[in-house]
Amino acid sequence: MCNEHLHVPRAHRSPMSQRPLRVLALAGEYRSSSKSGMLANLALEIAQEAGADIEFWDLATHPLPLVGEDGCWSHPHVAAFQESVTNADAVLLSSPEYHGTMSGVMKNTLDWMYDKHVGGKAVGLMSTLGGVTNANTLNHMRIACRWLHAWPVPEQLAVGHVKEAFDEDGRLVDPSIVERLENLVRSVLATATMLRDRT
Ligand SMILES: Cc1cc2nc3c(=O)[nH]c(=O)nc-3n(C[C@H](O)[C@H](O)[C@H](O)COP(=O)(O)O)c2cc1C
Repeated sequence: MCNEHLHVPRAHRSPMSQRPLRVLALAGEYRSSSKSGMLANLALEIAQEAGADIEFWDLATHPLPLVGEDGCWSHPHVAAFQESVTNADAVLLSSPEYHGTMSGVMKNTLDWMYDKHVGGKAVGLMSTLGGVTNANTLNHMRIACRWLHAWPVPEQLAVGHVKEAFDEDGRLVDPSIVERLENLVRSVLATATMLRDRT
């Protein structure tokens, strides 16, 4: 597929705004060594190489409480998380597929975001699967994004048979998956630039 139209110049700086884009990535698993976390961090690496400022919200060090549990509304991690989402120009979501949908961890993370934090911002969707690639989790996250008035880009990536997808250095083995990841991140950055500078 030709994606040259998605090319965005390094640093993603427009005449209207000289600061680099800020990209926040979230994974639907607690372990920082999780496959969805690794995928999120590879996406961030691509964004950083393109000139963006990056942040990974690490649930291993900064877990978010379950929405509704005692004390959740005043939990310090929630306020910090919502501030990070507010400060981001774009958000990358990477969830494992559990029982045909996003993980409960990813859903709970999305439940801590509201329109006022993420509305009008570009989103990139990724999933990891133990089995055959499908788009269930991607579609379900896309629906949640619509409720949040966010703008998930059309490009998306599901990595099936994920146990074999990474080498021992944590790099993706299949070059066609790498290309899809690059195209996804480029599209997120291009869309974030347009949305940020639209007024
Ligand atoms: C509770 C549970 C349900 C799962 N359901 C599915 C599934 O429906 N389809 C699938 O392909 N893999 C399924 N898997 C495998 C996970 O998708 C896979 O282990 C995950 O993507 C690996 O990423 P992670 O290290 O970030 O968890 C399931 C795993 C668990 C623990």
